[in-house]
Amino acid sequence: MKIGILSSGGDCPGINATIRGVGKTAIMHYNMEVIGIHSGFSGILNKDVELLNERSLSGILNLGGTILGTSREKTFRNQIAADEGQSSVIKRSYGELGLDCIVCIGGNGTQKTANLLSEIGLNVIGVPKTIDNDVWGTDITFGFDTAVNIAAEAIDRLHSTASSHKRVMVVEVMGHKAGWIALYAGMAGGADVILLPELGYDINKVNAAILDRAKRGKPYSIVVVAEGVGSPDKKRRPADFITKAIEEATGIETRETVLGYTQRGGNPSPFDRNLATRLGGHATELIANKQFGRMVCMKGDNVSSIPLSEVAGRLKTVTPEHDLIIQGERMGITFGQ
Ligand code: F6P
Repeated sequence: MKIGILSSGGDCPGINATIRGVGKTAIMHYNMEVIGIHSGFSGILNKDVELLNERSLSGILNLGGTILGTSREKTFRNQIAADEGQSSVIKRSYGELGLDCIVCIGGNGTQKTANLLSEIGLNVIGVPKTIDNDVWGTDITFGFDTAVNIAAEAIDRLHSTASSHKRVMVVEVMGHKAGWIALYAGMAGGADVILLPELGYDINKVNAAILDRAKRGKPYSIVVVAEGVGSPDKKRRPADFITKAIEEATGIETRETVLGYTQRGGNPSPFDRNLATRLGGHATELIANKQFGRMVCMKGDNVSSIPLSEVAGRLKTVTPEHDLIIQGERMGITFGQ
């Protein structure tokens, strides 16, 4: 069999470990031919590919980013179903490349596109990846653990400067529309206030919690805010809005830090490397068994898979019943409610 691998959407730590997991299993265990498709889905159209071998797959396990490049190409997503012409171009490219299957490594958008490709008759396997941990159908995505480690370390570092200056530190973390990174990094970093898009928040409750801490002899506070929380005018970053609102209402000096792309860059954690390796291996197994149109996933500590049609268009968000929220509330952490 000849298989293609592509990565699409925002990069994240662990993509190369997946490419290696898929590629080495395919070549060494199943005797398949493997090509890398460059720059996401557009690489199929442009037939921008390279042959992958044991040599090109070596030394990339711990490498951040993606050796194949990525893009947020939306052409397919918008047009494939509607545009017959587009579908036949893709089918033709797939045929001309001699592919028996494409492994699509990506987040929600990628899995949606992978499903569309499957619907027009191509053999596709999805592998979920994102620091946001918001892909439906899998308990966890690789990239998330690394991002949480980076964000928690940043929050740790903010504690000492917040305490020295008796300031409030507002830290904005990524996560798109979900609050997974904010919840996990906030709890691991000992934040005093954690704001998640899934819960919303009342700024008066946040201010009251900070003033209450000051009254109880804790003159500094750490506020972790998920980027998806947004701001009332929808134009400013949430950290910017919240920082100013807190300083104005409490009179306590308040500073903001936006962690941004540092959460996405660099080497994957050992946990993410192993997760990516397991998912990559399972993706190849599905191909060998001709079980196409599925996304590999984690259910607890077991590697499994679900139909791409079940994943497409859905988002996995934090629920208010999450035990980290309940435990946090029991310990006096404010979620802005
Ligand atoms: O999905 C990963 C992510 O890093 C989100 O957390 C963030 O909102 C978004 O991508 C940023 O996207 P871009 O790379 O297009 O700036």
